[in-house]
Amino acid sequence: MPKLGLKCLPLLMACGAIMGSVGPAVAQAEGDRALGEYLSSECVSCHKLTGPSDGIPSIVGRPAAHLITLLTAYRDKKRENPIMQMTASRLSDEEIAALAAYFASLKATAQGR
Ligand code: HEC
Repeated sequence: MPKLGLKCLPLLMACGAIMGSVGPAVAQAEGDRALGEYLSSECVSCHKLTGPSDGIPSIVGRPAAHLITLLTAYRDKKRENPIMQMTASRLSDEEIAALAAYFASLKATAQGR
């Protein structure tokens, strides 16, 4: 019996290592959702998760590619809006992709939409 226990332990550790290395690689290709959630605290002070408010559009549940296009356009000053231009100018491509992945993923939770 003790022998079996010793055999199983390295196997479990190997499994953990494989999952750990594959997981983040997949997430990054689509934008790092966890990073996006972290960065979103700044956005949601204006963009309410429950829908449009005070003339500020809702940005949840849109395709990630659409959000990336919009944010990049603000950053490149192709879309006019001083607030969003300033906000987007501080974001890297990776951060924009992460935010887009996060907000796009909120589709299901946005008040039944
Ligand atoms: C100070 C308030 C404020 C903050 C903070 C803010 N936004 Fe905005 N955002 C706005 C306003 C106002 C608009 C509408 C601008 C316009 O009419 O073009 C907008 C527009 C947008 C749009 C385009 C929506 C559309 O359909 O035209 C996106 C995408 C967006 N914001 C994403 C973000 C993200 C991501 C963050 C956080 C990194 C963020 N915003 C932070 C106020 C804010």
